[in-house]
Parts: sequence; C-alpha cells; structure tokens
Amino acid sequence: MLYTDKKYKRHTITSALPYANGPVHIGHLAGVYVPADIYARYLRLCGEEVLFIGGSDEHGVPITIKARKEGVSPQDIVDRYHHIIKQSFEDFGISFDIYSRTSSEVHHQTAAAYFKKLYDAGKFIERTTEQYYDEEAQQFLADRYITGTCPHCGNEKAYGDQCEACGTSLNAMDLIHPKSTLSGSTPVKKNTRHWFLPLNDYEPFLRDWILEQHKNDWRSTVYGQCKSWIDMGLQPRAVTRDLDWGVKLPVADTEGKVLYVWFDAPIGYISFTKQYTEDWEKWWKDKDTELIHFIGKDNIVFHCIIFPCMLKAEGSYILPQNVPANEFLNLENDKISTSRNWAVWLHEYLSDFPQKQDVLRYVLTANAPETKDNDFTWKDFQAKNNNELVAILGNFVNRSVVLTHKYYNGKVPSRGELNEADRLMAEQMAQFPELIGRNIEKFHFREALGELMNLARLGNKYLTDNEPWKLIKTDPARTATVMNLSLQLAANLAILSEPFLPFTAKKMQAMLHTSACAWQQAGGIDLLPADSAIAEAALLFEKIEDAAIEQQMQRLADIKKANESASFMPKAVKPLCSFDDFGKIDIRVGTVEECFKVPKADKLLQFRINDGVKSRTIVSGIAKYYPHPEELVGRQVCFIANFAPKKLKGVESEGMILSAEDSDGRLVLITPGDVVKNGVNIG
Ligand code: MF3
Ligand code: ZN
Repeated sequence: MLYTDKKYKRHTITSALPYANGPVHIGHLAGVYVPADIYARYLRLCGEEVLFIGGSDEHGVPITIKARKEGVSPQDIVDRYHHIIKQSFEDFGISFDIYSRTSSEVHHQTAAAYFKKLYDAGKFIERTTEQYYDEEAQQFLADRYITGTCPHCGNEKAYGDQCEACGTSLNAMDLIHPKSTLSGSTPVKKNTRHWFLPLNDYEPFLRDWILEQHKNDWRSTVYGQCKSWIDMGLQPRAVTRDLDWGVKLPVADTEGKVLYVWFDAPIGYISFTKQYTEDWEKWWKDKDTELIHFIGKDNIVFHCIIFPCMLKAEGSYILPQNVPANEFLNLENDKISTSRNWAVWLHEYLSDFPQKQDVLRYVLTANAPETKDNDFTWKDFQAKNNNELVAILGNFVNRSVVLTHKYYNGKVPSRGELNEADRLMAEQMAQFPELIGRNIEKFHFREALGELMNLARLGNKYLTDNEPWKLIKTDPARTATVMNLSLQLAANLAILSEPFLPFTAKKMQAMLHTSACAWQQAGGIDLLPADSAIAEAALLFEKIEDAAIEQQMQRLADIKKANESASFMPKAVKPLCSFDDFGKIDIRVGTVEECFKVPKADKLLQFRINDGVKSRTIVSGIAKYYPHPEELVGRQVCFIANFAPKKLKGVESEGMILSAEDSDGRLVLITPGDVVKNGVNIG
C-alpha cells in the first residue's frame, strides 16, 4: 500500500550504467545511485515487488580512449573498473538486485537480437554518408575520437557527440576545426554506410506521451529539456558506428561496425533482467509494472527520447513512467571532472572516513541537486555531520537508550496514562510515515530526508520538554511513560531511516532489538513491548574534527595546483624586436653580498650586488618567494645594469634583477649555470 495513487504490481528501477573507464565519485552517488537506492529500499519496506538494476557500461569510445592512453586492451580497462565500481556500490549499500556488465554474453546476444528485430521490421533507414576519417590512424572518428569547436557556444574542446560546455548533443560533422584525438591531424571525409532510427517519425508519439501525458508528473527540468528537443525538430539518429569495440552488427557484410554505445547500453537494463530471472518479461512487458529510470541530466535525451523510441519501435515493451533526472553536483564550486581529478572518489572517501557511508549518503541527499545544480563542500559535510547527524539524530537515540539503561536496567518501561503533551507527540509522530513516504514516492528525496530529521527533532524536543533526568526524582511513573514514548520514537526512526541511512538503521535496530521493518508498522507507539530488553548504547555518529576536513581541502588545493601547471601554455611571442634594440639592454652577472626585507614593504627584497666594479643596490619584488633572504648571499644573479635609478619605498634601486615567472605565478631567480666573473655581459 502506497500513499500516492501509484497502483502497480511491481517496480522496475534502473540506474544509469556508469562507464567502466574510471572509479565512481560523489557526483555519481548523488545524481543517480543514492536516490535510486532510497526509492528501491522504501518500496521494499512497503512490501512492493521491486527489481533494482545496475551494471557497467563497457562499450563506447571513452573506454577505448582510456585503453589506448594506457597501452592496454579495452577488456583490461573494463575488467579493472567494473570490479572497482561494483565494490564501491556494495560498500555504500546500494541495494541492486543485480549489477552486471554490458560485455557479458547475454547482453551481446540481447542487444544484437534487439537490433535485428528492428532491422528486419524495417524500422531503420540505411544511409551512406560522409564521416570524418583519420588517414594516419586509418580509422573512422566516431564520437569522442574527434574534437573541435562547438557550433553553438564556441567551446574549443567539444567532442564529436557532445559539447560538455553547453550540454548540446552534437553531430561530428557540425564541429568547426575538427581534429582527430588519435593523431591530432585534421580528418578527411569519407563515405560509410550506417543505420539510423528516424526519430522524426516518432514526434507525434513523443508529443503525446511526454508533452501531454507527463506534463504534470515529470520534473520541470526534465520536461523542459524534452520539450526543447522535440520543438527543435528531431532528426534520424545513427545507431551504428565504425569501431571494433562493442556489439557486432548482426547483419551480413558489416565488418568493422558495431552498435552505437547508446543503442546497446540501455538494452543492458533488459539483458541484466534476463540474467537475473527467466521470468524477466513481467518486469518489462506488463503494463502493471512501473518503470523508473534514475539518471543525471546529461542522460535525459537518451532515456526520455531515444530509448523510448527504441522501445516503441519494438512494440512489446512498457515505457518509463518517470525519469527523475538530477542536475549536477559541483565540488567546492567547480565542476566535477574525472580527467582533472576534481572529484571525491568513493573508494578514497571510505579509506579516509571508514564506516561513514551513511554520513556521505546523508549529505548528498540533503544537498541533492534535484531542482538545480548544487555544491558539495567539505565544510558543509562537517557541519551536516556535527550539527545534524550527531547533534540531532544521534543525540536523541543515544539519550533514550542511555537513560533506559540507567533507570530501567535496559528494559523498556511500561507507560501509564498519556497526558496532553504525550498525545500530541504521538499524534505528530503518526504523521511521519506518510509525510516521508509521499515525498519519496514523488521523488522529493531531500524533502523526505528533512522530514526524517524533523521526527528526530520531535524526539529531542519531547525529551527536553519533559526532562526525565529531573522527573525521575519526583515522579517515577511519569518518567516511565516519557521514556517508553521516547523509545517508541527511536524505534520509528529505526524503520523510517532505513532507505536513507541503511547502516545506521541496522545499528538502531540491533540496539533496540527490533526486527520490525515494514513501513506500515511505523507511526505507532507499540513497536517496543514493555519489559523487552534493549542493548547497550552504540555510537551512531561521531564528531568530525577540523583536522580531517583540512586534510581533504589540502588535497583539493594540491590537485588544483597540479591542474594549473599541467594546463600551462606559454604566452604568445611578442612582436619582432631588432638585434639593435636588444643590444640597448645591458644585462650582467653579479654576486649577492647582502639581502634583506625592505622594512614596511612585504613584497620587496633589498640586494647589495657586487657588479665587478662596485657594490650596487637593487630592490626586487620577490620577497614572497624567498622567505629566507639571507640564504641568497653568495649566489650569482643576472641584472639589468643600465636602467635609470628609481626610488622604491624610499630605497634607490640601481637596476633590475631577472627572474622567471613559473606557471603558478611564482618568481624564480635566474642564475648562470656555471660561476662566471662578476660584471660579465649576457647576450
Ligand atoms: N554510461 C553512460 C554515462 O555514464 C550512461 C549509460 S545509461 C544507459 O553517461 F542507459 F545507457 F545504460
Ligand atoms: Zn557548446
């Protein structure tokens, strides 16, 4: 029994298949897997029949590019990352019923058969078109094998299939200044034969199904993207590629061609269901099954337009009921990026914060990018842990359990007559299963989590208002009632927190010795029978100290620095200068005799230089980079000897000392490679 008017026999829940070309990070978890897991766990608690599907996307150019870069085979890459990704999901309690992979035999057969069925039914158009071809690498340049300037926004690093700057899905032929990522050369155009799904023929279907039927229940961000795609006019879309990694075409004389990765990958949802059960069809073909796709916003067109057209073309499948796509999660105000290593990787998080899976699940849900892009910051992570999980949820449960041990030897006390305040608390508590449940059913996960915390707040307020630690001295009977109700509230939290914080819920259930785990059992005040024993208090959450957070911020600062220097590009060369002009500058070598900070000027160092004739004073703005100026004494430097003297902070400077500016802006003194006589010229 659900709270909204969803009436299905079962629920097929899919989560986008991550590319097996790298580990997964917090963006994946926040955007797709945590919300999908909350939904699946909740429905299971409600007694619904659920199939929650995940798996690795092991085809496509991102995989082959990575393999090439490392000089290993694509199979090596996917084997490595499939296992790392699968492990991370297990570690974070993502409760897939099956987590498979698209390199599996069943998947290849299923995807090829799907293509063949549409092919035989004449659902594709065959076209010979010009595609870019790299003559050096002797290969057609599909998708990410080609980069160029985006015709929509001018981003110079757009890929052949997509511009990550403006989010537009591209056709490689539209790129300006195309360049092969294999050889760097400019590709030529060459004819090749491919099969296209005529999306334009499906426009009436899409208009009716999405723009009419789902006007009110799809997220406005998702609906809006679909509408703009449809309004822009749909084009036939190629579903095959000239590549050697992927599902081979089940058609004669098509050597060197495979299914487009975005054709085969969503079929993975179906083939994994087949691997899970022989009775797979009910999950895909029964109109009483609810199909929900959890994805990030960059996957909207594929799950809302292309895959539904594939399903429609086949004819016997159900369509997704909803596609609750999330916007993006940023990290410390910057876009998460695998290639720039700007991410919090799940396996690294767990080694830095062992056992704290639920803390991350909590923070990512509380900040879920449901309606707009959101930001993950370590400071906020710490604050949410310390001020919410520890101070509200952990504190309430801990106080209830500790007091029960103190006053009642760890047995649930029997309660007496309820007073007005007790009744009010019980009434409010009774609302929460529905409040939380409705929000989950509507895919409002952050709001649902907010309500869960409100229930913990209600518990804290109840304890604070009644002060059992004082009451015990004057009114033991009232105290027993208060403690009984507090424990009932804790038992409610143990059930209602399970979709969000499964590890914590388990600990709470163990502490309270409950095994009640049906959502509909929650809300009441008879979850824990009087006199039943509870276990000792176990710590649910612990404070995260500043040092741990600073370490994470330092790690990110180091990455930022490394990225800046990796992306260093020398400046454009200045306009030509004649030898005569150069000859006017008199550059010489001298030795530092004395060096110290100019008083009241943080940037300046004052040098006394032996220039071979006399000592001259030169002031230089490099103090920041040489914190121990006395150590420069004895070192040879290069200086311009014929600049007119100039006063700097009251000191007359006779020349300029030369330094190089590194990619991070740091200034480095220039010294001759061998010791030379003071006063010699440089030229
Ligand atoms: N691998 C894709 C991505 O990371 C998602 C594939 S989802 C599926 O963007 F539907 F194609 F399986
Ligand atoms: Zn663009």
